[in-house]
This record gives sequence, C-alpha cells and structure tokens, in this order.
Amino acid sequence: MMLVRGRLMPCVCLAVLGLLCWVWVSFASLADEQLPMEAWEAANHAVFQPQSALSEMEFASISSYRGPGNNDHRSNKELPILLWWSGGLFPHFPGDTERIDCARSSCLVTSNRKVQMYKRTASIIFYGTDFRAYEAPLPRLKHQTWALFHEESPMNNYFLSHGPGIRLFNYTATFRRESDYPLTLQWLPSLDYLLRPTSVSLEEKNRLRREGLAPVLYMQSHCDVPSNRDRYVQELMKHIEVDSYGKCLNNKAMPGHLEDTSTATGENPNFMNFVARYKFHLALENGLCPDYMTEKLWRPLHQGCVPIYRGSALVADWMPTQHSVIIIDDFPSPKALADFIKYLDENDEEYEKYLQFKNPKTIANTRLLEALETREWGVNDMSKPNYLNGFECYVCDQENMRLASEKAHKKARMVDPLPPKMANNSHMGCPLPQPGYGDVQDLPEDDGWLQIWPQDYWQSLDQAEGLESLIRHNESDPSLLWKHIQNIAVSRSRGHH
Ligand SMILES: *[C@@H]1O[C@H](CO)[C@@H](O)[C@H](O)[C@H]1NC(C)=O
Ligand SMILES: *[C@@H]1O[C@H](CO)[C@@H](O)[C@H](O)[C@H]1NC(C)=O
Ligand SMILES: *[C@@H]1O[C@H](CO)[C@@H](O)[C@H](O)[C@H]1NC(C)=O
Repeated sequence: MMLVRGRLMPCVCLAVLGLLCWVWVSFASLADEQLPMEAWEAANHAVFQPQSALSEMEFASISSYRGPGNNDHRSNKELPILLWWSGGLFPHFPGDTERIDCARSSCLVTSNRKVQMYKRTASIIFYGTDFRAYEAPLPRLKHQTWALFHEESPMNNYFLSHGPGIRLFNYTATFRRESDYPLTLQWLPSLDYLLRPTSVSLEEKNRLRREGLAPVLYMQSHCDVPSNRDRYVQELMKHIEVDSYGKCLNNKAMPGHLEDTSTATGENPNFMNFVARYKFHLALENGLCPDYMTEKLWRPLHQGCVPIYRGSALVADWMPTQHSVIIIDDFPSPKALADFIKYLDENDEEYEKYLQFKNPKTIANTRLLEALETREWGVNDMSKPNYLNGFECYVCDQENMRLASEKAHKKARMVDPLPPKMANNSHMGCPLPQPGYGDVQDLPEDDGWLQIWPQDYWQSLDQAEGLESLIRHNESDPSLLWKHIQNIAVSRSRGHH
C-alpha cells in the first residue's frame, strides 16, 4: 500500500497548483499565549521559528487556498494546532508546519512533537500502522482529541480492532463505512475503471484453456498472513487446476520478462495482459474485516476476470451487480466451490453473466455509485485532494466547531457544548483471525499460523487495555505500559475483573 501513498503524495508537492491542494501559507512564531503552564511556555517559545530565512521567504510568497465556505480570517497565532504524531506521513512539503484553510475553517498542522503539550494543540493525528501503545503521547491532555488514520490492512495493527484501543480515538479515517471519514473504496479509482471492456475475450480465454492454461490464477508472495489464505487455496487446488505464481504455493514460474512484477500491485501493462488471460482470479485479502477490500478484488473486475473472493464479508454491498463476484464463503467446501468454477468454465453463457456489469445500464448499486460520486478525495487523481489532506481538514473543521461550541458555552451557560465524540468497534473491529480452512482445534501445536496470529491478536488487546489504564491513571511515561498490563493480568487472575 506504500505504493498508493507514494502516488498520491505528489499532489501535496504541487504548490504551484495551490488551488488543488487546499493548503500552504507562511508560518508565524507560535508563542502560545493561552498556555497556563508557564514552564512549558518558556521551553516551547522558540519551537516554531522558521528553519531558515529562505524557507520563511518561500512560505511568505505562497498564497493559501481557501475552501469556498472558509471565512476564517484569524492569524496563524490564533489557530488551533493539529499534530501529526507519525511525522513520516505529514502530508506537506517542505518544512514541518503549515497553515491549512479547509472547507469551513483553518488550522495549523505540524509534525513537530514539541507542541504536544501546548494548550493550542487541539488534536493529535496518528497513523494506525505506526501506532504503538508504548510510545503514545502521555499524559493524555483533557482538551486534546486523538484522530486515527488507518487505510491499511487490519493485520498491520490489531490494537485498533479492540474496543479499548479504538475507543481512545475521537475521529477515524479507516476502510470501514462507519468510520468518520471512510476510505472504503480507496482501491477503486473510478466507475470507468470497472466499466472498461474485458481485456481478453471469452473466445480467447477458451482457446488458452484448450492450450493448457488453468482456469484459475493465484498470485501471492505474502504467505504468512492472518487470513491464512494459503491453507484454503491448497485445499481448493486438490479439486481444480490453479496456476500459482508468486512465492506462496508456487507451481508455475513467471515468464522471465515478468519476474519483477510478480508482486506488482501497479498496472504494469505486461503484467496486466498476463493475468487477464485467466477466467478466474483467486482474490483473498491478507486480513479479514468488514469493508476491507483491495486491488485484489477490483483489478480482476477491471480486467473482466471473475474474482473468487474472501475478505470483507460485506463485499456484496459494493459490487456493481449482485452477480459479479464468486464469494468463497457462500460455498460449504472447497470441493463445492471447485465444482461451481468447473461448471462456469464449461458454460459460456453462465460465465458471461458475471461480466454483464460492464454494461453501465446494469449497474444499479446506488451505494457504490453514490460513494464514488460524493467522495472528495481522488485515487491517482491530481485534480482532487488526497485523503491525508482530506482527513486533516475534516479534523480541523471538527475541532474548530468543538472549540467554538465550548467558547459559546462558557459565555452563556444556556448553550450546551457539543457532546463528546469517540470511535467504537464499528470503526475497525476486525475479528480474531481464523484458520483459512478447518477448525483451530485441529491444527498441530507447532502450526506456524497458529503460533503467530491468534497470539498477536490477544497481545494487542492487552496493550489496548494497558494504554487505557495508563491514560486513566494520568501516567506520563508510556514505557510503564508493561507494568500496567501485568497489573491488569494479576488483578484479573484474582477475579477482580
Ligand atoms: C475523546 O475521546 C476520549 C477517550 O475516549 C474521551 O474521554 C473524550 O471525552 C473525547 N473528547 C471529545 C472532545 O469528544
Ligand atoms: C459507534 O459509532 C457509530 C458510528 O460513529 C455510531 O453510529 C454508533 O452509534 C456507535 N455505537 C455505539 C454503541 O456507541
Ligand atoms: C496529569 O499529569 C499532568 C502532568 O504530569 C499534570 O499537569 C496534570 O495536572 C495531571 N492531571 C490530573 C487530572 O491529575
């Protein structure tokens, strides 16, 4: 997924097209007048000096773009600060601080952790994959919200799949539709991408079949994953012919000129032509979670191959038609699935029903159409903001609303402040990894998957409870996490929980 991020980021660099990227402007020194803690004030006073005279001039000369509804004319000094805790993802360049002028209001964003304790620092933005309980910014200040950006696989951090973990965040951008800033269709560039005509005709596919090409393609080089997909595919391969390239369950060599692309997630044309020849593509995500769908699903649909899918249990909700993907878990066994694939392989008319969605008139899925229509961020689309900038603006507008409501409440007690807002399991909530095939009780104790993923899942629950405890006790040293985890375990074993 680094790839997509890599491709989206250049948008940020297009300061010349300031219009497109919502951002930029000079930065002022951010002496934090309102800060009650004088000691902090002294220590922090010098933090926001421009790095050099040059960068100061550069910033001064770049005008900022204001969203059409943004009438925020406060100076930089008066704006709330959003701190990107995962500095590597800070979606601005160059420098570590920017003013952002969003749809409704403005903020300063920074990746400079020195502002952590500032009163003006309203929110801290975390990247899920990098989030570590033992490095969390503590003590957690009452006035600061936490925002989570996590578009990647659930396997990257199961901490976020547990109630006590996700509830620490106030705002989320995840692949789940229930998240505050959903990224569900992040791997689907556009409707046109789906509608593109089938790359290889059925006649040609049938000819290739007669020449010995298997009906089904599997191409995976990331083998030890929580969805344990290889265990299922291995079972399936007992009942139907599968050409398996890549490192996992390999039974075929890639042609020499394609070797470099065997793990490609991009659109290398040689690679695309090579895989498009198969009637069916095994498309199993590395982690299972509602609404977690990647290019593994969209690419075969794009090419006019039929995905045999396991990943989001709700995948049907987003499909162009109710007959465009074969869902593994609809079948009682790998054998039953294999029989069905064979049936489609031998019945052109039935096979082609899966490709009817290529005719735009057949797409009646309003959830899909509306989500593509209304999302404000683009995929490989320079004319739209990327979702990192989109999410920080979402947080910025939320925080300004919250601050305004608190101010109004202070002025006139009659006005209620906005109620607290926090995430819950519907914003991530991925289930305990299960074996890809069979029951967990039947696995040998030394099974590689068994030794990694269920443990990883439960250890991350310990960490979520540990961090919750650190915050509840107003600890300032995150390395006390292990002690808190131990205390929780001890008190639980004594029956206090
Ligand atoms: C943010 O979340 C925390 C932890 O769940 C909660 O205690 C706090 O009230 C929330 N803050 C706001 C402003 O909603
Ligand atoms: C969980 O969050 C969702 C979406 O933000 C919200 O609609 C729902 O009411 C929440 N559920 C609970 C139990 O708080
Ligand atoms: C939490 O800790 C911080 C610094 O360690 C301190 O300034 C603050 O007063 C504490 N808050 C509470 C509620 O005890």
